[in-house]
Amino acid sequence: MKHPDWLMDKLRSEFARSGLNKDIGNPPPSIRCALGHTVAARWMLNGELSHWRPPNPEKCGECESQEQKAHYIDTLIDRFRKVGIPEEHQEWSLGWAPAKEYGKVVHAGIRTDFRDVVMVDKHNQHAYKSCLGHQRHNWVLFSGPVGTGKTTFVTALMMDMIERDPRRYSKPVWTTESALFRNCDIAGAKDYAERIKMLDKHIRSGLLVIDDLGASRRPLTDWQGGAMRDLFDDRHSRKLPTLLTTNISRWEDLAKRYGEHVVSRIHSRCKTMNVLGGPDRRMG
Ligand SMILES: Nc1ncnc2c1ncn2[C@@H]1O[C@H](COP(=O)(O)OP(=O)(O)OP(=O)(O)O)[C@@H](O)[C@H]1O
Ligand SMILES: [Mg+2]
Ligand SMILES: [Zn+2]
Repeated sequence: MKHPDWLMDKLRSEFARSGLNKDIGNPPPSIRCALGHTVAARWMLNGELSHWRPPNPEKCGECESQEQKAHYIDTLIDRFRKVGIPEEHQEWSLGWAPAKEYGKVVHAGIRTDFRDVVMVDKHNQHAYKSCLGHQRHNWVLFSGPVGTGKTTFVTALMMDMIERDPRRYSKPVWTTESALFRNCDIAGAKDYAERIKMLDKHIRSGLLVIDDLGASRRPLTDWQGGAMRDLFDDRHSRKLPTLLTTNISRWEDLAKRYGEHVVSRIHSRCKTMNVLGGPDRRMG
C-alpha cells in the first residue's frame, strides 16, 4: 500500500512547520500481518530525529482492535452466563431506534454485534416502545400467550441494561418462578438459614428477571406466598429494577394467585402490563 498523497502532504507540511529543512523522503513499503491485514510504516515526529518507523507485523492495529472486540464480547457473554441467562435467550438486543419514531433514544451504548436487534411488528410495537422508554427504577411486566416473545423482550432489556451500565446493577439474577422456588427448596434441604439466604439473593439483586410467573398452575404453598410478598415488598421499597413475564394476562388473576398486596406493588412500578399478541413465533 502506498501512503496517500494527502497524508504525505500533511506530514511534509507538519515537518516543515517544525523548522527543519529536510525532506521526509518515502516511507518503507507496507507489509501484511499473519492474518493478511495491511500494516503501514509510521512517521515518528521528533525534531531532528524524526523518521519513518518500519511496519511491524506483530503490531497490527486491525488485529489489536479485533482482539479487544473479542475480549469485550467474551467478558459480556461470561457475565450473562453467571447471571443465569439461558444461552438460547442471549441472542437478542433491543438495539436502538430512530428518534423520530420512538422518542428519546435511550438504548445507545450497545456496542456488540453478536446480538441481533429484535424484530418489531404490529404485535409487539407497543411493548418495544415501552422498553425503549425504560428508566432504571421502573419495572416491566410482559404477558401474553405462548411464543409471543415475552422472555425475549425482558431478557434483551436485561442484557442491554447490563451492557450499557455494567457497574450500576449489583449481582443481577435471571430466574424463572419455578427455578426460584426449586433453588430455595434445594438450599433449604440443608438448613432453614440456607433457604432464607437463597431467597435473599433474589430479593437483594440489583436487577432481577423472574420469567414465567404463574407458569405452574399449582397454587402457591404458604411459604411460597410469603416469599413472594417479601420479595416484591422489599424490591418495591428499595426501588430495585424487576423485569417480569407471565402468561396470566389480567391483573385480577394475578391478584388471585399472589394477593392484592403483591399486585399493588407490581402495578405501582410497572404502571402497565405489556400484553403481547400474534402468532406463536416458534411456529414460523
Ligand atoms: N421480537 C422478536 N424478534 C425476533 N425473534 C423473536 C421475537 N420475539 C420472539 N422471538 C422468537 O420467538 C421464539 C419465542 O419467543 P419467547 O421464548 O420470547 O416467547 P415467550 O412469549 O416467552 O414464550 P413462552 O410463553 O413459551 O415462554 C424464540 O425463538 C424467539 O427467539
Ligand atoms: Mg418465555
Ligand atoms: Zn492483522
